[in-house]
Amino acid sequence: MTIADLPAHAGARLEVPPAPVWPTLGPAEKDALRARIKALLARERAVLVAHYYVDGDLQALAEETGGCVADSLEMARYGTTADAQTLVVCGVRFMGETAKILNPEKRVLMPDLGATCSLDEGCPAEPFAAFCDAHPDHTVVVYANTSAAVKARADWMVTSGIALPIVRHLHARGEKVLWAPDKHLGHYIERETGVDMLLWPGACVVHEEFKGFALDRLRRLHPKAAVLVHPESPDEVVDQADVVGSTTALIKAVATLPHEEFIVATDAGIFWKMHQLAPGKRLIPAPTAGEGATCESCAHCPWMAMNALQNLEEVLRRGHNEIRIDPGIRARAVVPIRRMLDFAAEQGIGTAPAPRR
Ligand code: 13P
Ligand code: SF4
Repeated sequence: MTIADLPAHAGARLEVPPAPVWPTLGPAEKDALRARIKALLARERAVLVAHYYVDGDLQALAEETGGCVADSLEMARYGTTADAQTLVVCGVRFMGETAKILNPEKRVLMPDLGATCSLDEGCPAEPFAAFCDAHPDHTVVVYANTSAAVKARADWMVTSGIALPIVRHLHARGEKVLWAPDKHLGHYIERETGVDMLLWPGACVVHEEFKGFALDRLRRLHPKAAVLVHPESPDEVVDQADVVGSTTALIKAVATLPHEEFIVATDAGIFWKMHQLAPGKRLIPAPTAGEGATCESCAHCPWMAMNALQNLEEVLRRGHNEIRIDPGIRARAVVPIRRMLDFAAEQGIGTAPAPRR
């Protein structure tokens, strides 16, 4: 593994905002708001495309109204097949941008355009392009959690659900791989595939907080629990996992493994879907607190938390917060995304959410 030697600002940790606190709604107020959103979705011929990390109310509404709740790969794919004029992406900005790049004829709205991602912010287009230029003999593979401009410089885009088979495929063709921006996911892929990659030094501020020593202690308290880990986590956490995978893979594990208890090292938003599919099972959040921690419990993405019923209603009403992409960037960025989707289709790699029990 070679971690890129880059200017100090590239891949640096950014200031993480506190998660917004939304006013609590009483049952009648919430029902009325949900009814108004449903009417607006019908009026605008819009569907909701939501990630597993957003608030459970949004996930429930997406399902009830014929939209989708999924991981990044399925969200990208869903937008291309949805029979709707408007996609309302409840997630973070790179998810809205991917939807727009793939569906330029559709209107793509987001409840809050400020919902970013530390991986995206830590990989600015200019130094990234310089890094690629310095290694012209490498195939450039970028994670979905990047800007449109970074994707425009890439050969392939991948998500956590498809990164391993794509890197194996490139290695089998004798290609050298430059990987950005998540160093933990990149290192996990290196260890699984044996491929030596050039890594950009980015990290997810949520997954990086999981603590290996505290997880070890928790496992001793729950020896029968299966440990589920998203591969954006550090090595010492991944090393203790029974299952490492995308959000969909972790949800499927809860629904299908015989265990009654699970320790879960990923964003807490995922518990909504896990509870829905396996209501009797005990889900224990992996520890983020303890020695060396920068917060007590920070396993919730502050940018995913910017999505709520309140600003969803507002964006449907006003039509503001529309994703727009420069046409030149879009024309280049669509190539690595399409390559990934074509590969997934050829290989029959599906990440559809687990069925209801
Ligand atoms: P998935 O593609 O596994 O849903 O991951 C997206 C993400 O941002 C995880 O932090
Ligand atoms: Fe980005 Fe991490 Fe938030 Fe996922 S959880 S969107 S990787 S900051």
